[in-house]
Amino acid sequence: MEATNGTPQSKAGDWRSYERVLLPPVKDLHRLEVYEQHGGYDALRTVLTDDSLTPGDVTQAVKESGLRGRGGAGFSTGMKWSFMPEPDDRPRYLACNADESEPGTFKDRQLMEYNPHLMFEGILIACYAMQIDACYVYTRGEYVDWIDHMQVELDKLYDKGYVGDNIMGTGFSTEIVMHKGAGAYICGEETSLLESLEGKRGYPRYKPPFPAQKGAWSQPTTINNVETLACVPLIVNRGAEWFASTGAEQHPGPVLYGISGHVNRPGVYEYPTGMLITDLIDEVAGGVRGGKALKALIPGGASVPPLRADMIEGVTMDAESLREAGSLFGTGGMLILDEDTDMVSWLRRVTHFYQHESCGQCTPCREGTGWLEQIVTRIDEGEGRLRDLDLLLELGDQMEGRTICAFADAAVWPVRNTVKRFREEFEAKCKKSVHPTGAEVSAGAETAA
Ligand SMILES: Cc1cc2nc3c(=O)[nH]c(=O)nc-3n(C[C@H](O)[C@H](O)[C@H](O)COP(=O)(O)O)c2cc1C
Ligand code: SF4
Repeated sequence: MEATNGTPQSKAGDWRSYERVLLPPVKDLHRLEVYEQHGGYDALRTVLTDDSLTPGDVTQAVKESGLRGRGGAGFSTGMKWSFMPEPDDRPRYLACNADESEPGTFKDRQLMEYNPHLMFEGILIACYAMQIDACYVYTRGEYVDWIDHMQVELDKLYDKGYVGDNIMGTGFSTEIVMHKGAGAYICGEETSLLESLEGKRGYPRYKPPFPAQKGAWSQPTTINNVETLACVPLIVNRGAEWFASTGAEQHPGPVLYGISGHVNRPGVYEYPTGMLITDLIDEVAGGVRGGKALKALIPGGASVPPLRADMIEGVTMDAESLREAGSLFGTGGMLILDEDTDMVSWLRRVTHFYQHESCGQCTPCREGTGWLEQIVTRIDEGEGRLRDLDLLLELGDQMEGRTICAFADAAVWPVRNTVKRFREEFEAKCKKSVHPTGAEVSAGAETAA
């Protein structure tokens, strides 16, 4: 977006004076006592004790806030909650998705380490809104330390009567259970997470039925990301209007940008959505390392399409602006690659990841991810042929939208867009390629697959 004078415009307002609300600078905020000293659990108390606030009102407020899921897909949270059927005699579940295994994504970890009670409070409010009986916090197994310290804090919540039976004496009851994952990226996919939770192999399920109809143990279930749930107490305390007016209009709220790669100050930064990408790289993260030029940005975790440096001018970090620019918001995990990055080698690592993590249920994904890796590897090793580039694109077309879950799409997007947007680098490696016979071949003479 451009101002009338041609200057690119941020949608994040006066972001330099922004005061953090997801990760406020409060020492020891992870401890219940400190969290309460700073207004912790007031939002839960309001929701449970204000007789005029029905569960439906809470869902409506979340809808009006414009909160969109922070786990990757960006779906309206209030809308998702409203898909839960009316309560009946069946148990109802919430799964807090804390699996966080996408390369380039590490923002939920910060919340779990520094402000886990915001997540717990968000969970409890969500449980009230959807009349949930139990929430499972499905956490990336490698986050051992944080799982342990969250359990300590959760035990305090039980002792204090904030979780369990008759919460705060209001008659509302719900349980929270910590669950440790076992190191599979696919278990972050919501239905695979449910299978894993049930003790089975983490295979994604066919949809429909959707989890709201048939989720954990076949009962109505909602799945939300850690950061999504952490936004909920803020909406209750500060109002849906405040949330809706923070950041980008169609994708509002505070957000955690995880910035990694070739920048001077990598880290997790909280600002409103709608920040200019250039502000985030140059000012927030201190610019590209070593004074080098930017080559590429992957805005939302490894699975979203990379953008060339010449594609980011005026682009803001929100779903609409990124879609227009040819990428996605994803998880807001921004990977920055400098001018010296070999994009073929980079893609080789990405394809290896997807090949390794495919659950293997669907043939296009199981076989396709293997072929993607093999072809990119042979190009990288100087064994590629020019027609491999079109082969990669064709393979992607045969995989996308033809599988049980979105994993295969996530494997294809970086391949397709890296090959298209950095084609000259791939061609350069292919042109130098040595034919399997050992003879150098010119691109024009290339015929064999
Ligand atoms: C392969 C794959 C991995 C995923 N991993 C995660 C994850 O680690 N954490 C997460 O919150 N969502 C992950 N998701 C998205 C979830 O399926 C789901 O959309 C999300 O948890 C919903 O929460 P939200 O609406 O609050 O964003 C993944 C999706 C796919 C396809
Ligand atoms: S798309 Fe891939 S990861 Fe998803 S179910 Fe099929 S084989 Fe498994």
